[in-house]
Parts: sequence; C-alpha cells; structure tokens
Amino acid sequence: MSNKITIAIDGQSSCGKGTLAKNLAKELDYIFIDSGAMYRAVTLYLMRENISLREVSEDPALLGNIKITFHFDPERCYYETYLNGENVENEIRSMEVARKVSPVSAIQEIRTFLVAQQQTMGKDKGVVMDGRDIGTVVFPEAELKIFMTASPEIRAKRRYEELHKKGIHVNYQEVLHNIIERDHIDSTRDASPLAKAEDAITLDNSAMSKDEQARLSLSWARGVIESLATH
Ligand code: DC
Repeated sequence: MSNKITIAIDGQSSCGKGTLAKNLAKELDYIFIDSGAMYRAVTLYLMRENISLREVSEDPALLGNIKITFHFDPERCYYETYLNGENVENEIRSMEVARKVSPVSAIQEIRTFLVAQQQTMGKDKGVVMDGRDIGTVVFPEAELKIFMTASPEIRAKRRYEELHKKGIHVNYQEVLHNIIERDHIDSTRDASPLAKAEDAITLDNSAMSKDEQARLSLSWARGVIESLATH
C-alpha cells in the first residue's frame, strides 16, 4: 500500500508558500501544484478575450475553453504554467494580472471549475498543493495542513525582489499596496475566503530562513508519513 500523503499549504499572498511547497515536493518526490497560478491563468485568459466577470457568472460554459497544465522545466528546476499550450509563466506574474486576480478568484463559478481540476490532479496523493482553500475546500482530508503567515512588509519585500530577479521592474510601495489589498479581498470574500483549517499547523516565517522553514516542514511531513506507516 502506498504511504503517500496529501500536503495542503495555505496562507496569504507572498508568504513563501510556493518555496516551501516546491521544496517539500522535491524532497518527498511528490508533485507540486501552484493553485494560485491557475487563478492567474484564468485571469489572463479573461483579459485577453475581453470577457467580463458578469459574463462568466451568467455562462460558466465560457470557461470550457481554458486548459491549464504544468510542465516541469528541469533546467530551471521550476514548474511552468501553460494556458492552452502556451507558456504563460512570466505573464501571469505581471502586476496587471496581480491587480485583477483577486476579484476573479472571488467568483464562485471560477472556483468550482478550478477546484474540480485540482482535486483530479491530486487524486492519487503524493501531492503538495499551495493556495488559499486547499486545506479547507480542495483537500479537507489532507494528512498534513500548513497555514503560513508573515508580515505584509516582509512579504512585499520578498515579492519585490522576486519580480526584480525576473527582470520585472515595479515599485515597492505598489507591491505592498497590492498585497494589503489582496489580503483584504481574499479573506473577506463570500466564496471560500482564506481561512486556517482547524487542524492546520501555523507557520509564521517572518523571522525564519528558507532553510529553517524547509527543515521544519519536512520533519512534520516525515512524522506524518511514519506515523501512518506504523498504524
Ligand atoms: O498565490 P497567488 O498570489 O499566486 O494567488 C493569486 C490569487 O489567487 C490570490 O489573490 C488569491 C487567489 N487564490 C485563491 O483564491 N485560491 C487559491 N487556492 C489560490 C489562489
């Protein structure tokens, strides 16, 4: 019997969920899925096709033309997001998409469409998925749930540096403003607001190095896997 588990990582924007999730997936040889990238890809599609959120709510079949896949790039050691066969990894990280993604992810029809795909992607376990509703809605039965948090200023600094490294030049204040605004929309929306699952472990990494948080979360994951193997 496989002793693979499902790991759900939720938390606010830019608190290092992706870094932690990718590292866990690599160490455990699991699949990594960035659910935020899926909301961003839908946002990009709607922007390009000039489809309004009202039109989607009235006719969710419009989403039927969207196919999102992930491909691992071994050179960059990175999962890249594809929208209908096109690599959109850089475009979905732009400020333009960041500004529009929260209202898009507040639409119930869009959540229903993406949650179904996320559940299919994780049906065989051995998956680490990060997002806002993974431990509460997508995989409520996940064996390990981590809820991450860090101060808005630290998160803005990290996102700013990440964008600069990719050659995307933005203003720090604009990034901070965007993070605070997204926190507000994400945690107050009606459809699956960002919330900590009751059985999630909180990880505040404001003053933690990437190595420290990687070691800590890996020890939690190994602990759960071992305890399931001995029961
Ligand atoms: O993690 P991120 O910043 O790339 O996510 C982009 C947006 O998508 C964010 O504003 C919240 C939303 N999101 C969501 O509502 N549910 C998820 N499971 C993942 C992301």
